[in-house]
Amino acid sequence: MTAENITRVILNNHIPSGIPKPSDFTVETVSAPTAEILKDNELLVRPLYLSCDPYMRNRIKGNGGFYVPDIQAKAAITGHGVCVVEASSSNKFAPGDHITTGLFDWAQKAIVPAEGRRKVSETDRVSLVDYIGVLGMPSFTAYVGTVVLGNPKKGETLLVTSAAGAVGQMVVQLAKARGLRVVAVAGSDDKIEFVKTLGADVAFNYKTCGNFEHAIHQAAPEGIDIYFDNVGGEFLDAALMNMRHHGRVIPCGMASQYNIAADDEYRMENFSQVIIRKLTIIGFLVMEYYPTASFTEFIAEVSTLYACGKITYKIDEIVGLENGPAALIDVFDGNSVGRRIIRV
Ligand SMILES: NC(=O)c1ccc[n+]([C@@H]2O[C@H](COP(=O)([O-])OP(=O)(O)OC[C@H]3O[C@@H](n4cnc5c(N)ncnc54)[C@H](OP(=O)(O)O)[C@@H]3O)[C@@H](O)[C@H]2O)c1
Repeated sequence: MTAENITRVILNNHIPSGIPKPSDFTVETVSAPTAEILKDNELLVRPLYLSCDPYMRNRIKGNGGFYVPDIQAKAAITGHGVCVVEASSSNKFAPGDHITTGLFDWAQKAIVPAEGRRKVSETDRVSLVDYIGVLGMPSFTAYVGTVVLGNPKKGETLLVTSAAGAVGQMVVQLAKARGLRVVAVAGSDDKIEFVKTLGADVAFNYKTCGNFEHAIHQAAPEGIDIYFDNVGGEFLDAALMNMRHHGRVIPCGMASQYNIAADDEYRMENFSQVIIRKLTIIGFLVMEYYPTASFTEFIAEVSTLYACGKITYKIDEIVGLENGPAALIDVFDGNSVGRRIIRV
């Protein structure tokens, strides 16, 4: 029998700063792994969908990976996905099962540990792609930051950056569903139009707005009660100057700093506002909320709202693993809208 060949995406070398280039990756053809080499409690999987996420930028810097371990040079890129099990040495999963949660190699077939995986299935309400879309990790991140930690109250004002992204689009909709006024910030006029369709009351383009502090004040003269921060850096500093007393700041990500060398990262100037305005700052990592009651509540609320058309979720799909490097680079330089995924 001839060996099956598969496509796999490799990181050539670590990239400490700057926007990665296609030449930083290799798309290679290798022999497929087979069921015969499975060790105990392992799965041979075929990824159907893989996602491109900003946290992956920190994993290819070579500095320890921020909060998810580094991808090694000359090793496969790994990320979130939805896969079908082809062979299993685990008593929890069988061939034909669909699984998600945890990291998967960017390869048409791979062997992964069974530990920590979650079985998912298509229903009349959700399709497989929804497990990497509306019910996926960024969507749950939006739920934890906005609902669990943000303590939102009807009539309050919420500011969110990267509002047209995988997390941001859900923050806008969850806040609107709870009766908040939403100020959305994104990096292109098309993204601004998109977030308005989601219900944002005011939206502006941070690349053309001029002074951040003034732009936030113009959008929310009454001040901000909750800042869902996806970008960090200078914008976070400007947001602190617009917070209402007893406001909540939810640092979720620092997209403005990910391509910057460690020595050049933005240094905060307005941190004293945390004291003056009696702010609460709650950082979080979504992985600590799997599985919790919050996860169950998230699935129940979002799948119901989604099934009856009360929320939408934009997926930005690229077809073919060979297009993976370009698809990922787009996320790092802001050229994707919604959640960027690869249909393998
Ligand atoms: N804490 C957690 O557990 C957790 C979990 C998931 C994600 N996150 C973080 O949440 C944030 C949003 O994630 P996501 O998956 O929804 O990503 P995303 O918003 O879909 O994609 C990243 C976006 O960052 C923006 N960006 C890039 N460079 C920027 C810069 N210099 N200044 C400002 N914005 C810039 C771009 O949008 P624009 O065109 O609008 O600039 C880009 O589209 C990320 O920082 C991510 O690391 C945290």
